Amino acid sequence: MIFPEHFVWGASTSAYQVEGAWDRDGKGLSVWDMFTRSGDHIRERQSGREACDHFHRYEEDISLFSQIGLKAYRLSISWPRVMPAGVGPVNKKGLDFYDRLIDRLLEAGIDPWVTLFHWDYPYELFLRGGWLNSESPHWFAEYAQAVVQRLSDRVRNWVTLSDPQCFVGLGYATGEHAPGLRLELPEILLAMHNALLAHGRGVQAIRATAKQPPKVGWSPSVTVFYPFTDASADTEAARQATFSVFPGTIWNNTWLSDPVIFGRYPDDGLLVYGNAAPKIGSKDMEIIKQPIDFYGCNIFQGTPVKAGPDGAPVAVAFPPGHAETSSGWKQTPKALYWGLRFINRHYRIPVVVTENGMANSDSPGLDGKVHDQARIDFLNSHLLQVRRALQDGTDVKGYFYWSAMDNFEWQHGYAYRFGLIHVDYETQRRSLKESAIMYRGVITSNGADL
Ligand code: NOJ
Repeated sequence: MIFPEHFVWGASTSAYQVEGAWDRDGKGLSVWDMFTRSGDHIRERQSGREACDHFHRYEEDISLFSQIGLKAYRLSISWPRVMPAGVGPVNKKGLDFYDRLIDRLLEAGIDPWVTLFHWDYPYELFLRGGWLNSESPHWFAEYAQAVVQRLSDRVRNWVTLSDPQCFVGLGYATGEHAPGLRLELPEILLAMHNALLAHGRGVQAIRATAKQPPKVGWSPSVTVFYPFTDASADTEAARQATFSVFPGTIWNNTWLSDPVIFGRYPDDGLLVYGNAAPKIGSKDMEIIKQPIDFYGCNIFQGTPVKAGPDGAPVAVAFPPGHAETSSGWKQTPKALYWGLRFINRHYRIPVVVTENGMANSDSPGLDGKVHDQARIDFLNSHLLQVRRALQDGTDVKGYFYWSAMDNFEWQHGYAYRFGLIHVDYETQRRSLKESAIMYRGVITSNGADL
């Protein structure tokens, strides 16, 4: 048996992308509620106001998850649903929703994995400076404590932050995401530093509050460089690229993960960022470096590299016509194998694929079925790489497909469908895609079918 007995087969979503009910039961505003309201930030001015209406339809959704045979479901909590002003009074009704959701998941035998922050930052806190405010890590810890207090009798697996590179990089640097800021490097790195502190304080809050021994991790986007050939020089080049900080970008792994795992910023990053690097308080690294149980890898694609004449990594261009998803992302299954392997070995921590998936323009055929052969191929080819990683000794604990259902894809609105479940946004009718049936077979056989 290659996949261990308790391998976690799951699928992920996030609150703003599926819940809708943007103003129900006392929910406060998030930066995404505001961002989608103004200007032309989002394709066809769409928003997550209704999204999949999961807030009202979660029971139906969970019964579909059961039909797929999911062992686990990774959801995120909407911070302003729980704390409308971001801090202070807790909105009991908001927490009641997650209470119902979790009870129903457990009744269905599906283990909830709860992410505390997946981008829908409280607007009130944004007005107070958001991630630029040095209080922001404390705000996050206060919120985390309220959630854990209420749900940890039933929830064991926690993720602090999802994709800090995205909510800082796209939200504070390029302005493509809420809150739409275009700041310079010192502020961007300050926002990131506060997010890292929030992660650390969040872990502390989870451990101090949890009613059963928790498993805690985080889920950054992993920027993967993988070797173009099996030659060891190419592997070394790919490893070097995966663990380097490059000038002019914050899309690297080590600037975030070294503090979290090793308790220090990487030397090459300090050199590259120079004076733009944040001032590090004397206790900061101690707070950021909390013991965590798993590293959640969000991996969608990677870049092939080979060793140049001096051994340094050189990116290899894709051949014309290389397979792409409908969002234009290259299909690179090997990135999953190498990303998991590199992270597991470098940081010496078990890994979980918390997100991996593809966008496709799916629609039901004349027979009413969604024939998403491309996603079946994607799942097959990517899960084979997870299997290969396990065979080669990488400690992979689970795989969560992104996403359980079609949903609001941020600035692209509803154009990109990532789901195993098709959602007709006009009628809110759901149907299982053929990939969901295929995934069910994989889960039932615990990967033996691959
Ligand atoms: C990663 C993000 O976490 C998720 O919200 C997004 O939908 C997927 N990438 C696909 O872009």
